[in-house]
Amino acid sequence: MNSINSINSANSEQKLEHSIVVERLTKVYKGNTKAVNDISFTVGQGEFFGFLGPNGAGKSTTMKILSTLLTPTKGHVVINGYELGKQDNEIRKSIGFGMQGVTLDDLATPMENLVLIGVLYGRTTNESRARAEELLKILSLNHVRDRWVKNFSGGMKRRLDLAAVLMHDPKILFLDEPTEGLDPAARRVIWDYLRKRNTEGTTIFLTTHYMDEADALATRLSIIDHGTIMITGSPAELKKKVGGKTLEDVFIHYTGHTIREEEISTNAPDPYIHS
Ligand SMILES: Nc1ncnc2c1ncn2[C@@H]1O[C@H](COP(=O)(O)OP(=O)(O)OP(=O)(O)O)[C@@H](O)[C@H]1O
Ligand SMILES: [Mg+2]
Repeated sequence: MNSINSINSANSEQKLEHSIVVERLTKVYKGNTKAVNDISFTVGQGEFFGFLGPNGAGKSTTMKILSTLLTPTKGHVVINGYELGKQDNEIRKSIGFGMQGVTLDDLATPMENLVLIGVLYGRTTNESRARAEELLKILSLNHVRDRWVKNFSGGMKRRLDLAAVLMHDPKILFLDEPTEGLDPAARRVIWDYLRKRNTEGTTIFLTTHYMDEADALATRLSIIDHGTIMITGSPAELKKKVGGKTLEDVFIHYTGHTIREEEISTNAPDPYIHS
């Protein structure tokens, strides 16, 4: 699905109201790495969309562009009806972004962190406390709610990261490997919660390296490799297409199965500043 035509056909066939429209998006980093190479796709409102691909395929780069953290080199993007590059503040207010890496204050407790985030999103302190309590219970962090984050295990920090992005009620949730490194039970709890949010109307755009997770959650997904979208469809459609039993078969079919030697630009800037 790599052309404007496919967007038009998606429009006419499914009559979806799109939360995300990406047309011919390209990102070349300084140092000349083409991380995203002329991709086009749409995500319908209320979809649970998976974005899969090997290490270095361009998933996080795409997600950072869609959430205004990174400027594209070329292309046209509309998020929740707002045009990227022209209405970035409106886009930011309408989305939540849980990214790879921990972003919370280590010298504060989970409750303090979450209440602060809730208030920054415009909730009252009481509303923020109530939402934080709900999330801390769901994510099995209630027993450490008043301890310093500094002393938490990696998995606890990861769950708290996720709680932070879930303090907000955005129209679209962008989640970059939200369950990376979590044990199976914690992943199941998070899947249930994300399904609930999706059923309530939140569009979810998810990257993951766990094929079982994508299969369990995504209603539709794209596989990206070397910055190019290889295929888009529902997990069932894709499995049927390649005659595979699992999504892993589909992934291997479209990307090959050897671990890539990723190239790293020697003068790569900080990924979280515009470049
Ligand atoms: N700030 C940067 N400057 C230069 N090159 C970058 C920068 N960030 C990422 N890259 C390169 O862009 C390509 C795509 O990286 P990206 O992080 O988008 O991949 P990814 O699909 O999210 O991979 P992973 O599954 O490992 O998270 C890689 O070749 C990477 O080395
Ligand atoms: Mg990534």
